[in-house]
Amino acid sequence: MKIEALRVKNFKAFKEIKLTNLPAISVFIGANGTGKTTLFDVFGFLRDALQDNVRVALQKRGGFKEVITRGETGAIEIEIKFREYDDRTHSPLVTYSLIIELDNNQPVVKREVLKYRRGAKGQPWHFLDFKKGSGMAITNESSYEDKESKETKEEQTVDSPDILALKGLGQFQRFKAANSFRKLIESWHVSDFHIGDARPSQETGYAEHLSTRGENMALVAQFMYENHRPIFNEILEKMAQRVPGVSNVEATDTEDGRILLRFQDGSFKDPFIARYVSDGTIKMFAYLLLLHDPNPHPLLCVEEPENQLYPSLFGGLVEEFRDYADKGGQVMISTHSPDVLNHIKLSEIFCLSKKQGITVIERASENPLLVDLIKEGDLPGALWKQGLFTGINP
Ligand SMILES: Nc1ncnc2c1ncn2[C@@H]1O[C@H](COP(=O)(O)OP(=O)(O)OP(=O)(O)O)[C@@H](O)[C@H]1O
Ligand SMILES: [Mg+2]
Repeated sequence: MKIEALRVKNFKAFKEIKLTNLPAISVFIGANGTGKTTLFDVFGFLRDALQDNVRVALQKRGGFKEVITRGETGAIEIEIKFREYDDRTHSPLVTYSLIIELDNNQPVVKREVLKYRRGAKGQPWHFLDFKKGSGMAITNESSYEDKESKETKEEQTVDSPDILALKGLGQFQRFKAANSFRKLIESWHVSDFHIGDARPSQETGYAEHLSTRGENMALVAQFMYENHRPIFNEILEKMAQRVPGVSNVEATDTEDGRILLRFQDGSFKDPFIARYVSDGTIKMFAYLLLLHDPNPHPLLCVEEPENQLYPSLFGGLVEEFRDYADKGGQVMISTHSPDVLNHIKLSEIFCLSKKQGITVIERASENPLLVDLIKEGDLPGALWKQGLFTGINP
């Protein structure tokens, strides 16, 4: 499953942005406040809308008037194009689009469409096409692969005009494209790791996936140790290679029912508890846990992975992100670090800037000067520092 394109209108600082041909890893750079976190939040917004409804998703962000681009009065629009498999011949390009507006001061779904074309010439099938809580949905999903068959549709309604049809119609559980899109959005994950949250011991409990800020790190370590020992051992090996002195990490139960992480330094007999090991040690361990998750998130967004890490580790870390993407998880990263950028291809770099308060996104590989300089052997991070990325250094 891979997102190929994203178009957003009137969502916070995005009056209109378009990203096409998204690679498996994309890296977003730009000054503070240019919209990197906003971009990740487009997916967070959809997830909240799917979990609850559009009204709740807006409320969490201050309400419709706070979310719509300042000075605009129309509708918020999000369009995502994706393929189920990263294979152009066998997987049709599916488009999901959502338009939200105010109706009597209440946010409603003005239009929600899920469609795709069968073959190069076929008419697109609208698997669902909804306006304000009612519309048409296809009933013969099972025959969509049969190129001769015609779509059959019926009228459907959801309980209220702020509920997504994608959520409200149980029948889409059975339909592959809609179902995998739901899963992509539901299991979207943002990692914004905070060392201070991950250090303290944890109440005993159970966690398979590292949380956004990383406060359940000890529980995930214990889960991996108990259930995926070979992967856990691989993580330890990588820790030992990358962080001088760390030879082992254990998650142990304490008498008062807590889980404690202990880091063993080969030079000393007694291990250090997480509270007393270095920031970079904790952060590297957290990323290794996140990126070795046996069930990768289909879309993982990572905020500034460079914080607290020694620059010589960035190459290895970027390789980990690439491996993760190869296993089927698409990755989006925001960074302020030229050293991280040195490990990224030009075609993977998106530059954000602002013009009169509005975000502009440019692709580094569309700048001929940058393409030439990279061909001559320059590194992206070095060119960024020299001020050669368009928009970023106007
Ligand atoms: N409704 C809106 N209309 C226009 N601009 C908005 C709206 N809501 C928020 N903004 C602006 O969008 C910007 C959001 O920035 P965001 O947090 O995405 O930046 P960032 O690139 O992640 O920055 P940093 O590097 O500091 O993390 C802020 O400058 C904010 O003022
Ligand atoms: Mg940010």
